[in-house]
Amino acid sequence: MDSFKNLCNYFFSKSRTHYFFTTIFTLTLIVFFFLFSACSDGGPASPPAISSTSLPSRRRSPSDELTPLPPPAFLSGARLASQSYTACSTTITIPAEKTAEEKFDSCDIFDGSWVIDEGSKPVYEPGSCPFVDDSFDCFKNGRPDSDYLKLKWKPHACKIPRFDGVKMLKLLKGKRMVFVGDSLNRNMWESLVCAMRESLSDKTKVFEVSGLRQFRSQGFYSFIFKDFNCSIDFVKSPFLVQEWKFLDKAGTRRETLRLDMMEGSYNKYYDADVIVFNTGHWWTHQKTFQGKYYFQEGNHVYNKLAVADAYKKALKTWAQWVDENIDSSKTSVFFRGYSASHFKGGQWNSGGSCDGETKPITNETQLSPYPWMMRALESVLMKMKTPVFYLNITKMTDYRKDGHPSIFRRSSSNIKNRVFQDCSHWCLPGVPDSWNELLYAILVQSQNQKLSSFVH
Ligand SMILES: *[C@@H]1O[C@H](CO)[C@@H](O)[C@H](O)[C@H]1NC(C)=O
Ligand SMILES: *[C@@H]1O[C@H](CO)[C@@H](O)[C@H](O)[C@H]1NC(C)=O
Ligand SMILES: *[C@@H]1O[C@H](CO)[C@@H](O)[C@H](O)[C@H]1NC(C)=O
Repeated sequence: MDSFKNLCNYFFSKSRTHYFFTTIFTLTLIVFFFLFSACSDGGPASPPAISSTSLPSRRRSPSDELTPLPPPAFLSGARLASQSYTACSTTITIPAEKTAEEKFDSCDIFDGSWVIDEGSKPVYEPGSCPFVDDSFDCFKNGRPDSDYLKLKWKPHACKIPRFDGVKMLKLLKGKRMVFVGDSLNRNMWESLVCAMRESLSDKTKVFEVSGLRQFRSQGFYSFIFKDFNCSIDFVKSPFLVQEWKFLDKAGTRRETLRLDMMEGSYNKYYDADVIVFNTGHWWTHQKTFQGKYYFQEGNHVYNKLAVADAYKKALKTWAQWVDENIDSSKTSVFFRGYSASHFKGGQWNSGGSCDGETKPITNETQLSPYPWMMRALESVLMKMKTPVFYLNITKMTDYRKDGHPSIFRRSSSNIKNRVFQDCSHWCLPGVPDSWNELLYAILVQSQNQKLSSFVH
């Protein structure tokens, strides 16, 4: 009886705090035991950042069995090397829109539809962003309708988070992101810069590094977000491979495309944190077909080479360059797919038009077949060592016959220049904002994967 009393005294009167701490200590030991055994596959040796409050959200999600997307290197750390990844898979998991409970759905975020969302505004006000090219600024150029600004991309099988400029800036703090490609990548780049700019309270804290205000003529532009030490750049490289010249037998200089040589500005971006490539439109361009370019490999100039074969050769050159020169533990690589055009009654330079279109296509049978270029791309990506995330936006853009500048590529005072319509680029705000929203979703998703990699 005495000894029982002593025991009671020990716990309840002598030192309740002692009892409390003993319990906590034991629980801590148990928690750490599980953490260490779970991390024994090469995870971090000590988990300094893990606090017990964040443990519940680190449970294994059912979607872990799916092939993960390649996590952006700067977000994924040491586990990147052990990631298994199939280059072309677009089946990724995206966290549902912010809910208290972390919820995962698995889905193809490029499989979806455009829905009118009366409540949601564009990520930046029409006409408000000084970095939108005049030729993409449909609002300023007098486009009267506005339904095209209310359409939101909704994947069929899951929700994606709404673009959050502040979160994107934090994600890219101290980082460089570079868009490399043609004017459609410029379209996408301007969209991202404007979307991120919108979240700054002091808008003077973002500027082009050389103070440039138009972005068409030069090969390189760089926007700096000063307070975040972050830059979002554009490198003009419409074919990704090198434009070249040779002297033919008659001594005439001919322009060629070196299918075996990466375009020369790669020093400007090979070590960036995120790179978004594209090439497509110039390969069907009049310029390629009507004798302006010959295709060349080494000293060999082809008399005849189908554009499809030339495109494949160029992509292989690109892929080999990426595999040999990009450090995928530092750099995350994206390739943006072919963006659909909607010329009716002619081509871009022969009276083709898309003006008066104010609604997207809703009947799927009216969409074009998946382009041969993207089939070629998929087969090249599949054979690459480097994980490349394919932004498969072709179909989602094909619906949007209403999204192009058409005659509003110029202000109405400039009637003469309205002869040619633009049915391949996109009004801003507009369709490329959604590409960036998907890019954002992927980056956020990858960051979540990084978190969960601590406990696998
Ligand atoms: C800014 O980022 C670069 C890398 O992009 C880094 O080298 C530099 O130290 C950073 N500067 C500051 C002030 O954080
Ligand atoms: C979709 O288009 C096809 C061919 O253009 C047509 O036959 C079909 O009736 C259309 N469907 C709807 C629901 O409008
Ligand atoms: C890309 O989307 C198209 C539908 O437009 C689909 O046919 C194709 O398989 C997709 N590619 C990948 C790699 O998911």
